[in-house]
Amino acid sequence: MIVESLRGRDLLTLQDLSPEEIEALIRLAAEMKRDRGRYGGSLAGKSIAMIFEKPSTRTRVSMEVAARELGANPLYLRSDELQLARGEEISDTARVLSRYVHLITARVRRHQDIEELARWAAVPVVNALSDIDHPLQTLADLLTIWERFGRFRGLKIAWIGDGNNVCNSTLIGASKLGIHVSIASPKGYEPNRRYLEYAMENARRSDCEVEVLEDPEEAVGDADVVMTDVFVSMGMEAEREVREKVFLPRYRVDEALLAKAKPHAIFMHPLPAQKGKEVARDVIEGERSAAWDQAENRLHTAKAVFASILG
Ligand code: CP
Ligand code: NVA
Repeated sequence: MIVESLRGRDLLTLQDLSPEEIEALIRLAAEMKRDRGRYGGSLAGKSIAMIFEKPSTRTRVSMEVAARELGANPLYLRSDELQLARGEEISDTARVLSRYVHLITARVRRHQDIEELARWAAVPVVNALSDIDHPLQTLADLLTIWERFGRFRGLKIAWIGDGNNVCNSTLIGASKLGIHVSIASPKGYEPNRRYLEYAMENARRSDCEVEVLEDPEEAVGDADVVMTDVFVSMGMEAEREVREKVFLPRYRVDEALLAKAKPHAIFMHPLPAQKGKEVARDVIEGERSAAWDQAENRLHTAKAVFASILG
């Protein structure tokens, strides 16, 4: 069943969704995964503009295939080929695209730009990654966790490394669903302060715990899921040398660190990965890695989002 309450709404951050809406999206995505042709053609006649200011493999391809499987028409738009690159204002771009398409997704360098896009667009806007949030990734990750554990409440995620966009959205999604989150980040690389406040408030309501630590070994204790992401996100390439000095070797997820989590703990990574940096090659390639399922689930969760918002 599509999530009716999402019809016509933006998805800039999971903080704007209720726990029930998030769980309903996961159920819908699981249903779409079981029967890939279901809802086929349900978005016939709809067009979806996908603006990208940064590279993408998973997000671009999963959204494009999702749109087509639902019968919609996806338009991949590189921002450097739009008039945006020549200074056309976001507000003008938003109003014009709204005259052509039924939904706009955007991957942006600055989160305030997608907020500006949403403010001016007459159609719903979906965040395809910003510097501080990646809600579509977290939906796929939650589906993956559901598939592995069959529940959310009471599980524990340990996030090791950079308190980046994926860390922020994980904090929000997990804390809404009652999943404990322990973050281990070096000083100065903690998650976004505002997101941490949201997560603390969510955790109070859902009766779970959110903590930010420095020590990876302490964070992985009792964890069901050990997650990480690159130390150098897109747009931060100039900081590579400094960051690698700060993060390595302490924040690399290797077998020894994973062994300190629960015996059944799984490893998760949104990809793309820098094998040997934030994660040891044998961990991401190993039996406990859920990275490939996470990537696959981007398709089914994107379909659930599009079908619900445009349904
Ligand atoms: N995980 C993710 O968003 O990957 P892409 O950058 O390839 O889209
Ligand atoms: N934190 C990474 C995630 C990529 C999907 C980045 O922003 O580059």
